[in-house]
Amino acid sequence: MIGEKKVLFSGMQATGNLTLGNYLGALKNWVSLSDEYECFYSVVDMHSITIRQDPAELRKRARNLLTLYIAAGLDPKKNCIYYQSHVSGHAELAWILNCFTYMGELNRMTQFKDKSAKHADNINAGLFTYPVLMAADILLYQADVVPVGIDQMQHLELTRNIAERFNNLYGDVFTVPEPYIGKVGAKIMSLQDPSKKMSKSDENPNGSIYLMDDPDTIMRKCKRAVTDSEACIAYRDEQPGIKNLIDIYSACTGKTPQETVAEFAGKGYGEFKPAVGEAVISVLKPLQDEFARLSKDKAYIDSIIKENAEKASYVSTKTLRKVQRKVGFPDRIR
Ligand code: TYM
Repeated sequence: MIGEKKVLFSGMQATGNLTLGNYLGALKNWVSLSDEYECFYSVVDMHSITIRQDPAELRKRARNLLTLYIAAGLDPKKNCIYYQSHVSGHAELAWILNCFTYMGELNRMTQFKDKSAKHADNINAGLFTYPVLMAADILLYQADVVPVGIDQMQHLELTRNIAERFNNLYGDVFTVPEPYIGKVGAKIMSLQDPSKKMSKSDENPNGSIYLMDDPDTIMRKCKRAVTDSEACIAYRDEQPGIKNLIDIYSACTGKTPQETVAEFAGKGYGEFKPAVGEAVISVLKPLQDEFARLSKDKAYIDSIIKENAEKASYVSTKTLRKVQRKVGFPDRIR
């Protein structure tokens, strides 16, 4: 708790082009929860270097992502929006938590397996301990709730296990966080292969709608989405392409999948697909316009970066000092 409010933490990597999956699975929920909680939204640039990055490009993407958080509707005066690398406590706590995490646990992480298969020439130790840094992010702020897409659930489970292990040894040090998974949109699939999640790193750009895609591109991608020959709009696993489009339409319009199915009862894919395109455009266009406007205001964004890094440092240092004391590091002399 901070004051009267429970704490929310979440983050996103500034790697690749953000997709509609990132927006519907995470960012959109962040905005809807932001009044209820004391929120920390981090641009997790330290996680990004587990994969080789071009430095200038990473810096640019990190700033764009931070700007995008604000453009999506997160008020940076009320929510702490900051770069992970500006708060040294993340790395310090991650080191300590590394000593409370087992190799076997990390070996089981499916994202590690996927990413090491994809980047076989660079399976570095950071890629392996990545989930521990994520646990440090969350536990540093004593987060009660962590809104994420389904793909992050395994990391969340690990975070809970580490927190409980530490608490069992040293008393109630960490809040054990709960995941928050949205009702629709928690796993948006590729438009070209609905058995795979929509991903920033997909080689086929037609599989993903990027947040900065222009309206024509969005419409074209929706119209070309892989479906089936059933020719009926039903929400079922046997029609994964249509199910995914129903999820996208529902998440963008605020309807339930059942309401969407009712709305398009008796209609064909030729009518449904452009409607999905329109729904996506009506969500992304205002976001893009606000992003373009904010990006021009360098002084404003700079001031947010500075103020919020200070706030995050202040809050996180409290947890860090407590943990350092618990594990037996000597007190600082003032
Ligand atoms: P990242 O950057 O891959 O994704 C950011 C958020 O977007 C969600 N997401 C999706 N949701 C629905 N459908 C999809 N196709 C889809 N693709 C991505 C992710 O679940 C995530 O919520 N390790 C994290 C970043 C992180 C973090 C944290 C998150 C670092 N520290 C602490 C929460 C708390 C990651 O790589 O997310």
